[in-house]
Amino acid sequence: MTSNGTSYTYLSGLFSLDGRVAVVTGGSSGIGRAIAGALARAGARVVIVARREPELKAAVDELTAEGREAAWVVGDLATRDGVRAAAEAAAAVFGEPDILVNSAGINLRPPMGELGEDVWDTTMAVNLEAPYLLGLRFGPGMAERGYGRIIHITSQQAHRAFVQSGAYGVSKGALESLARSQAEAWSPYGVTCNTLVPGFVMTPLNTRLSSDPEKVAALAARTMTGRNGLAEDFAGAAVFLASPASAYVTGHSLFVDGGFSVH
Ligand SMILES: NC(=O)c1ccc[n+]([C@@H]2O[C@H](COP(=O)([O-])OP(=O)(O)OC[C@H]3O[C@@H](n4cnc5c(N)ncnc54)[C@H](OP(=O)(O)O)[C@@H]3O)[C@@H](O)[C@H]2O)c1
Repeated sequence: MTSNGTSYTYLSGLFSLDGRVAVVTGGSSGIGRAIAGALARAGARVVIVARREPELKAAVDELTAEGREAAWVVGDLATRDGVRAAAEAAAAVFGEPDILVNSAGINLRPPMGELGEDVWDTTMAVNLEAPYLLGLRFGPGMAERGYGRIIHITSQQAHRAFVQSGAYGVSKGALESLARSQAEAWSPYGVTCNTLVPGFVMTPLNTRLSSDPEKVAALAARTMTGRNGLAEDFAGAAVFLASPASAYVTGHSLFVDGGFSVH
C-alpha cells in the first residue's frame, strides 16, 4: 500500500485482479508457479493444475500462508480426457475462470532423426492440444460474460531453432498461431489472447543446460541484459496481460527474454 492514495487507486484500476478467477496450468513449478503467485497477489483466486501433488501443495501453501486464495487440481494434460477432467475440477473450485494461463509444458529433445511418434504425440498433447481444449472449454464462457484473458507461454523456439527444437519448437510455433486464432474469435467479446515468449529461464525444465556453468554464461551473454531469465521475471507481464490494463492488446507475442531474441 502506498502512502499516496491517488496513485494506489489509479494503479488498482489498471491492474487489480480482485474478484477474478484464474486457472494456471503448470502452476506448481517454474514460470507457471511465479505467474500463479503474481495473479494471486494481484487479487485473483487461483487454481493451479499439474500432476505431482507435493509440488502443487507447496505452491498453494505458500500463497495461502500469505492470505491469498489458491487451490490445486491434480490433472494429467497429456490426454484429452485428462484435460477435460482437470478443466471441470478446476472450474468447480472458485467457479468459471476469467483468466486462463497455459504454462504446463514439456521439452523432450531427441535428435530430429530419432524423434519418434511417441515424443511427437506427447509434446503436441501437452504443449498444444491442452491449451486448445482448455480454450474451447473456457473461451466461449468468457466471451459470453464479456471479460476474459487467455495467456499462453510459448518459447523463442516458436521463432527459431535452438538446441534440438524438434517437436517442441513446432508445438510452440503452433501455439502462437492458436493464440492469434483465439484472439480473432473472442476479442470482439472482451477476451484477449496473447503469448508470453521466454528466452532461457532457469527452471526445472532445463536442469541439464542450467547445471552447466559454461553454457549458462554463454546464454546469458546472448541477452542484452547480461543474465538469464528467472521465473519471477514473468510476474509483471502476466499481471498486465491478465488485467483490465491490457484490454487493447490481443493476438500479441510479448518477449520476456532480456533481449535474447533481438540479438
Ligand atoms: N524454462 C525455460 O527456459 C523456458 C523457455 C521457453 C519456454 N518455456 C515454457 O514455459 C512453460 C513453463 O516452463 P518451466 O520452465 O516453468 O517448466 P517447469 O518448471 O518444468 O514446469 C512445468 C510445469 O508443467 C507441469 N506439467 C508438465 N507436464 C504436465 C502434464 N502432462 N500434465 C499437467 N501438468 C504438466 C509440471 O508439473 P508436473 O510435472 O507435476 O505435472 C510443472 O508444473 C512451458 O510451457 C515451457 O515450454 C520455458
